[in-house]
Amino acid sequence: MTRKEIRGYLEVREAAKDFETYSSDLLGDRDVRTYRQLPLEADPPRHTQFRSAVQPLFMSDAIAVHRAAFSEHARRLIAEIRSRGEADIASDFALPYVIGCLSIIYNRPQDYEEWLSWGPDVWTAESHQKGQTTKAGEEVLRDRNFDLPSERDGRILQAYLDRVFDHAEANPVRDAAEQDVWDFVSQIEIDGQKINRQEMQGIANVLLAGGRDTVIKLVTGLVWHLIGHPEDREFLAANQDWFNRTIAEMVRFLTPLPKMERVTGDQIGTPDSDRDPSQYVLLNFVSANHDREIWPDSDVIDIRRERKPHLAFGFGRHSCMGMNITEHEVGSLLGVLVNEWPGWVFAAEPEISWASDLDKHGNAIRYINRFDELRVRV
Ligand code: HEM
Repeated sequence: MTRKEIRGYLEVREAAKDFETYSSDLLGDRDVRTYRQLPLEADPPRHTQFRSAVQPLFMSDAIAVHRAAFSEHARRLIAEIRSRGEADIASDFALPYVIGCLSIIYNRPQDYEEWLSWGPDVWTAESHQKGQTTKAGEEVLRDRNFDLPSERDGRILQAYLDRVFDHAEANPVRDAAEQDVWDFVSQIEIDGQKINRQEMQGIANVLLAGGRDTVIKLVTGLVWHLIGHPEDREFLAANQDWFNRTIAEMVRFLTPLPKMERVTGDQIGTPDSDRDPSQYVLLNFVSANHDREIWPDSDVIDIRRERKPHLAFGFGRHSCMGMNITEHEVGSLLGVLVNEWPGWVFAAEPEISWASDLDKHGNAIRYINRFDELRVRV
């Protein structure tokens, strides 16, 4: 099924702004869920209402207070790797780091192990866990499960959401200082009406899924780059105000969310079940971030390059709400890594799956699809 794709920096920007022609009012992940992710899969005015309702969770100041805890968590994971001598960065470091940060931000420390057990992607939690069970008895490192074939399934997430929202609704916590993320979400009101369970789930979905595999890929890519480029480590240790620019360059290069669906304006109002997803249009963020008219050497990671706004966090009304979270999480980590470099070297050739795509002129683009394994030793 070849779907129409919008490619190129200016073209993707224009399309991302034009929600009447390219609407977000569609159901994604149709194989694993039946409700909309919110505010992602809605157009204004519904989108605007949900976006403002969840905004408090994403404010920079609210996240910044956790930076010391993020750094401590990073140090703990680094110490574990030091004591073992060798590890896979994707599964033994990036995954627990990101999950740990989310459990801190959402005030759900009790969920850390459970979320970790889902692996890098909430939709493949079941096969991730089966992988671990299948290999029970052997000395299994979680990273090996990254290699197992993954089947997408929404049951584990659904069971979790049923449980936490049943509990939050039965035991409402009104004091904002005491609330966790699900207390907050379960009490959101829109137009004076409490949101319904499907809407709570839709919000919870982006909170749990949106900042998971994307940031894991970014953290893994960052470590991969820092190991291979000691000169950039030295530069960053001496120029700590370059952290956000470095994060921006890594996220441009990696574009962890490569494409997003849109439905054309003539389909607005048509129920999802009557639509033909093969007619959906893709906004191709990779082609925008590797547009050689904007970045002639787009396939090079240059943390010192002139700053130009990339589109890895999208553009316009739906631009990523998690950008502050990403910058604080990854910025805290960068501080620990460059100031207290753990002496990591590659223990084996990095196993990277590359993907290819086309730019707007039909020229090939190569980008990293995923880091299969990044083994390091101390
Ligand atoms: C490197 C990390 C990340 C990348 C590359 C990324 C990428 C994106 C992109 C491209 C969009 C726009 C989608 C569209 O236009 O259809 C988006 C939206 C969104 N992201 Fe992120 N994201 C990242 C991290 C996060 C984090 C950490 C969270 C929260 C925990 C988050 C939550 C959201 C939400 C709630 C939206 C929907 C915004 C809206 O529809 O108004 N993201 N993200």
